[in-house]
Amino acid sequence: MAGIEFSVRHMLEEDLPGVAEVEAGVFTDWYRVYRKDPEPLPERTIEELRYASSRDPEGNFVAIARDGALVGFMFSRTWGRVGWMGTFGVPTQLQGLGIGKALFLRTLEHLRKKATIIGLETMPESGANLGLYIKNGFVATYPTVVLELSLVKEADRLKNVDTDGVATWGAQDRRTRRRLIRQIQEISAAHLPGLDYSIEVEGIHEHEFGETLFSTDEEGRIEGFAVLRTAPFRGEDTSGRAYLHVLAVGPGADADHAVTRLLGGIWSRASRLGLTKVVTGVSSRHAHALELLLGSGFIAIRAAIRMVERHAPPELFTPSNGVNVARWAG
Ligand SMILES: CC(C)(COP(=O)(O)OP(=O)(O)OC[C@H]1O[C@@H](n2cnc3c(N)ncnc32)[C@H](O)[C@@H]1OP(=O)(O)O)[C@@H](O)C(=O)NCCC(=O)NCCS
Repeated sequence: MAGIEFSVRHMLEEDLPGVAEVEAGVFTDWYRVYRKDPEPLPERTIEELRYASSRDPEGNFVAIARDGALVGFMFSRTWGRVGWMGTFGVPTQLQGLGIGKALFLRTLEHLRKKATIIGLETMPESGANLGLYIKNGFVATYPTVVLELSLVKEADRLKNVDTDGVATWGAQDRRTRRRLIRQIQEISAAHLPGLDYSIEVEGIHEHEFGETLFSTDEEGRIEGFAVLRTAPFRGEDTSGRAYLHVLAVGPGADADHAVTRLLGGIWSRASRLGLTKVVTGVSSRHAHALELLLGSGFIAIRAAIRMVERHAPPELFTPSNGVNVARWAG
């Protein structure tokens, strides 16, 4: 195939419609081949792309061909000293020409300036993706298990959970929020030095995409928190899905108790909005967290390959008893 001339630059607001179109096209093709799903994927909404690009505004890139066409994109995000790559795509007919690698290397260069741990997740079906990432210094860690909870089937149990100690970010004043942020940072760093989930808590609220729930003890200290997204990713979304972006429990807290309460809070919030499912993912290195979620009615729906740069700290390759549920980090 002939080569292509292109350049890579930061993603701008005016790129978002083009990114939406390329993303829907490339993933429609991917789902057709690998998941036998013939339906065209609706585009991600502009609000969603704005939210995705705001987690690290300098960390999102596009590839532009000589004629001005958008021929690839990559998002990234950082949580403190942890950087995460993706979503990432190049139009199917232009793959294999070096565009993806250029976007990948530019994003990596950006993340290396601030993050000491850099990771990503990819689909096990894609040998090409695994090849690209391995050749560029990444190794697989524990696989992610993607989980789904039916809010309808589990309603009888979840609606009876005592959620008295569950608070929301939206209901707190500024001083309390500052105190909560410090505790979220402590809990994140206890799971992985340098990890800071507070940007997810602030982002979901700023963009009005959902809510963060806290399970607190008698002194008002956080035992655990859950960042719940109730806004859809794509237009015409009839999936009824909410997304649990993060669920983390602090060291020393009773994890079973905190998770049960948070799930009770999640159930009432998502059900009130007419949603019927909650999707999340957890690294299988957190065996206890997986057990807790499977014991709470979640079912495993698929796996993803989680990869980090080869020099990542050894704890990312060893089992942990902590509850650190997220699609992207740890
Ligand atoms: C992933 C994606 C963005 C890569 O973009 P691309 O422009 O096709 O990638 P490039 O041509 O720049 O580079 C591909 C690299 O992978 C290597 N590669 C491809 N298939 C491979 C395989 N089966 N085994 C090993 N290496 C492989 C190529 O050799 C090349 O590396 P090299 O240039 O060092 O030799 C693109 O294929 C895509 O959009 N795929 C569908 C969506 C997707 O999977 N997104 C990523 C989700 S994690």
